[in-house]
Amino acid sequence: MEESIIKRRGVVLLFGFIVLALTSAALMFSGNAYAADVESGKKIYQKYCVICHGDKGDGKGLIGVIHRVEKSGLTWGVYPRDFTVGVFKFRSTPTGCLPAEEDLLRIIANGIPRSGMPSHEDISPSDRKAVISYIKTFSPRWVEEDSCDTITAKKPQWVGSEESVMKGEKVFKDMKCFECHGYQGEGDGPKAGELKDDWGDKILPFNFTSGTLKRGSSPENVYITFTTGLDGTGMPSYEDSLKEEDRWHLVSYTLKLMGQGK
Ligand code: HEC
Ligand code: HEC
Repeated sequence: MEESIIKRRGVVLLFGFIVLALTSAALMFSGNAYAADVESGKKIYQKYCVICHGDKGDGKGLIGVIHRVEKSGLTWGVYPRDFTVGVFKFRSTPTGCLPAEEDLLRIIANGIPRSGMPSHEDISPSDRKAVISYIKTFSPRWVEEDSCDTITAKKPQWVGSEESVMKGEKVFKDMKCFECHGYQGEGDGPKAGELKDDWGDKILPFNFTSGTLKRGSSPENVYITFTTGLDGTGMPSYEDSLKEEDRWHLVSYTLKLMGQGK
């Protein structure tokens, strides 16, 4: 009897040791894999991104600095992003959240129209992931905060219909989008001249009649923009203040203003 208890304890202990050994090996391995990812990400960053985003990730790379000295910020409308603040515009996550991995992967592959941020389709997906791991080392937000759930867009059939465009126009007025974007959507609203972004720079609201959407012009992209807001720009999130249906009417009106409505 006694002996079998001792034996059982021995087995439990042995099992415990094995689990412990396996867990620490796994941890060490994933830690090493992460470090290797950051290390190779740094190389990609130095090759492709440092010229704009800078050695310290503060947006003060050579082009970033020239851009400022020339005060030509308005040709691009924005300076290369300072990653040390950890604020991102084109997320599929609610306002105030960090972006999802897919958001960053998409931005790096597609670039950002009207901003000078080029597309980097030539960088392989695994290298894009590595450079993301490296960018994350610039801001403590990435270790301090949990990730948020992403928002999905399910486009109703009626988006783009004449009735929906009319409803969208009313929402545009009711929600005072014109204060920034102008009464005709030309980016010249009464507040337009005084807007500054979170990085302290002047920022222009979108001109619907001549612009290309930075996030991309599919109805789903436009919907996500109203829903998540563009953090750091003053462009708010309407997730709480507008019903889903009204956000889709706004999509109809936006695309109409851009000459893409049906
Ligand atoms: C020629 C300059 C230039 C280069 C090169 C460049 N960027 Fe950018 N990047 C920008 C500018 C300008 C912005 C700001 C765009 C805006 O806010 O509309 C930006 C913004 C970003 C953002 C923020 C997106 C968001 O949702 O807020 C990420 C992430 C990013 N760049 C990653 C990269 C990576 C990774 C590389 C290299 C593979 C790179 N960039 C190379 C100019 C550049
Ligand atoms: C406080 C000012 C402000 C208000 C109010 C505002 N926006 Fe914006 N919006 C901006 C700024 C600034 C930008 C440009 C951000 C950038 O280029 O980085 C922008 C960008 C956009 C874009 C372009 C996104 C892209 O992918 O390029 C759309 C679409 C948009 N706003 C729609 C709206 C609608 C519709 C409303 C009202 C429901 C609204 N905005 C209210 C300031 C505002």
